[in-house]
Amino acid sequence: MCGIVGYVGKNKAAPLILEGLKRLEYRGYDSAGIAVWQNGGFTVAKKVGRVANLEGEAARHRLTGTFGMGHTRWATHGGVTDENAHPHVSSDGQVALIHNGVIENYVGMKKFLVERGYGFRSETDTEVLCNLIAYHLAKEPAAEEGESRFVSAVRKTLRHAEGTYGIVVMWTGAPGELVTARKGSPLILGVGDGESLVASDVAAIVSRTQSVVYLKDGEIAHLTPSAFSITTLNAGEVAPVIDKVTWSITDAELNGYAHFMEKEIFEQPAALENAMRGRFSEDGSTANFGGLNLTASEFRGIDRFQFCACGTALHACMVTEHLMERFARVPVECDYASEFRYRNMPLNRNTLFFVMSQSGETIDTLAAMREAKRKGFKVLAVNNVVGSTIAREADGGIYQHVGPEVGVASTKAFTSQLLIGAMLALYVGRLRDMSFADGVEFAHALKGAPDLVRQALQQAEHIKGIARRYAHHRDMLFLGRLSLFPIALEGALKLKEISYIHAEGYPAAEMKHGPIALVSEECPSVFLVSSGEMFNKVLSSMQEIKARKGKVIAVATADCQLPDGLADEVIRIPACHEAVLPIVATIPVQLLSYYIAVELGRDVDKPRNLAKSVTVE
Ligand code: F6R
Repeated sequence: MCGIVGYVGKNKAAPLILEGLKRLEYRGYDSAGIAVWQNGGFTVAKKVGRVANLEGEAARHRLTGTFGMGHTRWATHGGVTDENAHPHVSSDGQVALIHNGVIENYVGMKKFLVERGYGFRSETDTEVLCNLIAYHLAKEPAAEEGESRFVSAVRKTLRHAEGTYGIVVMWTGAPGELVTARKGSPLILGVGDGESLVASDVAAIVSRTQSVVYLKDGEIAHLTPSAFSITTLNAGEVAPVIDKVTWSITDAELNGYAHFMEKEIFEQPAALENAMRGRFSEDGSTANFGGLNLTASEFRGIDRFQFCACGTALHACMVTEHLMERFARVPVECDYASEFRYRNMPLNRNTLFFVMSQSGETIDTLAAMREAKRKGFKVLAVNNVVGSTIAREADGGIYQHVGPEVGVASTKAFTSQLLIGAMLALYVGRLRDMSFADGVEFAHALKGAPDLVRQALQQAEHIKGIARRYAHHRDMLFLGRLSLFPIALEGALKLKEISYIHAEGYPAAEMKHGPIALVSEECPSVFLVSSGEMFNKVLSSMQEIKARKGKVIAVATADCQLPDGLADEVIRIPACHEAVLPIVATIPVQLLSYYIAVELGRDVDKPRNLAKSVTVE
C-alpha cells in the first residue's frame, strides 16, 4: 500500500521519480505527488488519480532539480483529495515527507503540535510526522555529537510514532540529503554510480542499479549522492549488506502484452519451470528444498502443519492442505492470517507453521507469523520477493522464483504456490508412508505441469468467446469439490476483483444449502469437473442448476464424459494427476476473469480500491 521513491544524484530527479512511481502504481493509485528541491526550496506537485495525471502537473512546474521524492497513495486516513496526497510539508515549510503505513497515535501527536502552533492542511495521519520532525529541528538546533542533525530529528520523532511506516524526508537545512526509515513497510536502498535511491520495491529502481540494501525495521538511512549510512532507532551503527538483484527491468515490462495480468498468465509454464528447477531428488522420488533449515528427522517429528495467508495465497494453502492430508497423511489446518492472530488457537507442541505470501510484506500474514514465533513455533515461508520482510523473519522457507508479479491480481505467483504446496506434500509424504514408486509417479506428474499448463492456455481464444457471451451477468457462482473447491474460490475472487461482477465460490454440494437461491438464467455457474470419485456427484449438482434454468460453464478434464446438453459451455483441460489438477484447472478461470474484465473495459492491472501489497491491517 502506497509506493515511495526517493532520488539524490546528478541527474534530473523528476523523470526518474515519475518513472519509478509508475512501476509502483500497483501499490496504490488514489493520488500521486512529487517534491523536488530547486531554487532553494521544495517544489511540490500533487494530483488525485494516476501517476499520468501527476505527470501533467509536474511538467507545469518545470522540475529540474537533482534530488527529490515521490509517492503514490492508497488512502487510509483522509479521503482521496489533492490535499491528502503526499508529499506533506510541515507548516513552517522546512520539512517535506512521504509515508507508507499508519501512525496509530497521530491524534495525541497532533494535539501536542497544535498546542505549539503547528498547523495542519490535510486529514492524514502522516502530516504529524513532518511537523514533529520540524519541531525537533527548531527546538534543538545542535545535534548530538557526531550525529547529523537531520537524522537526529527523524529519530526523535520516530521514537514517539506507534504503528507502521516507511518514510522519506527532505529538509531545507540539508539540500542533497534524504533521510529514510522503516517499521513494517518495505524500503530498499539503491546504491548507484554517483546517485542513491530509495523505494518501496526494487522494480522502481532496478533500471538505475542492481545493487540494493534491504532496510530492516527500526533502521534509519541517510543518503547523499555518493554515500549512505544506516543507524538504528537507538542510534546503533549498522554495517549494511549490499545485495545484487537477479532480474532486470525487462522482466517488469509488458513486452507486447496488453496487460501485466495477461503477460503473467501466459508466463506460467516458464514460472512453474523456475519454481521447480533443481528441487527434485536425483532418484526422482521426492522434492528437495534448500532453505528449510530443518533436518528430515525434525520434519518427520512434526505431527501437524498450520498454514496462514491472505486472499489468493490462502487458496493455495487450502489446496496444499488437501494434498498433504491425502498424500502425506498428516493433519493440516489453514487459517486467514488476519483471524489467526487474534483467535488464540490451542496448538500442540509439534506443530510447524507455514505462511504463504507472494509479496512477503502483507501485514496480516507478517503479524500471524510473528504471533506464532512469539509462542515459540518455527515458521517457514513460501514467498516470491527475495529479501522481503517475511522472508527475512522466517526461520526458513521456499522462494517461488517466478520473477516480479506486477498485475494486482495474482496469477503466476498462485500457480507456483500450488506447485510448491504439492512438492511439500511429496516431501512430507516420502518422509512418512508414501512409497518410492508413488513418489516417482507424483514427482513425474509435477514435472509435467508446465506442458499441461501450455495445453490449457491453448483454450484462450475459446474462453475469450465465452467471456464475450457472459460479461453482462451481474452474479456468477464457481463450484468445485475437494482440491478444486479452493480453485472455485480463486475463480470467484479473480472475477470479482478485476471485473467487479459479484461472484462466490462454493463446494459444489454446498450450493444447495443456500446459494442455489441465486440461481436463475441471470446467474451462471462455472463448474470445475474432473473424472474420478466426485464426478457423478458434481454432475448431480450441475443437473440441479440446469433444473432451475441456470447456465453452466464446465471446466472439465478431457476424460470426463459430460451428458449432452448439460453444460452450455465446455472448456476442456488435459486429464492429469490429482497433484497437478488444481494448477491446470486454474488457467481457464484466470483467462475467463481476464477476458470478461477486458470485455467490460476494466482497468485490469489496477482494479479499483485494491493494492498489490497490503501493508496495513
Ligand atoms: C488477489 C490477490 C490478493 C493477495 C493477498 C495476499 O488476486 O492478489 O488476494 O493474494 O493480498 O498477498 P501476498 O501473497 O502478497 O501476501
